[in-house]
Amino acid sequence: MSNIILIGPMGAGKSTVGRHVATHLRLPFVDSDKEIERRTGVNIPTIFEYEGEAGFRDRESAVIEDLCRREGIVLATGGGVVMRPENRTRLAASGLVIYLRASVHTQLRRTRRDRNRPLLQTDNPRARLESLFKIRDPLYREIADLIVETDREHLRSTIRTIARRF
Ligand code: S3P
Repeated sequence: MSNIILIGPMGAGKSTVGRHVATHLRLPFVDSDKEIERRTGVNIPTIFEYEGEAGFRDRESAVIEDLCRREGIVLATGGGVVMRPENRTRLAASGLVIYLRASVHTQLRRTRRDRNRPLLQTDNPRARLESLFKIRDPLYREIADLIVETDREHLRSTIRTIARRF
């Protein structure tokens, strides 16, 4: 059995949806950001502060490489995981890739007041999310087996849609 992999921008609901899908299918749930925090013993903002985004991406790629070797897990990834081609290749080969899509409006609403996302600690998070979306949307699409629009679908129906495809 292969994996279910959730990709998409910050605030798309990857962790929430992933946890529910995993419970529904009785599979282990793994969140790659949480796995990075577990391995380093510090939170994501601290990694960005000391090692920069490039350092974080190196750690993320190492974790993705390991997690993609597992079988039968539901994996929620960080929004920037698709920036590295090797991650895209590994994720695409490791199971069913679901792109959870959300408008920038929804992303903003769901990430408001969140201090745990260094890329949003800017005067203009909307502009940041818009520019990330422009760059990353084609990369998410490149490896997606299924695209779910989370603005419109309710959580329960998103979970059902994913579980049915697996
Ligand atoms: C990032 C998204 C975050 C986390 C890091 C960088 C990004 O994950 O990996 O802050 O580049 O979009 P979420 O998508 O779970 O917020």
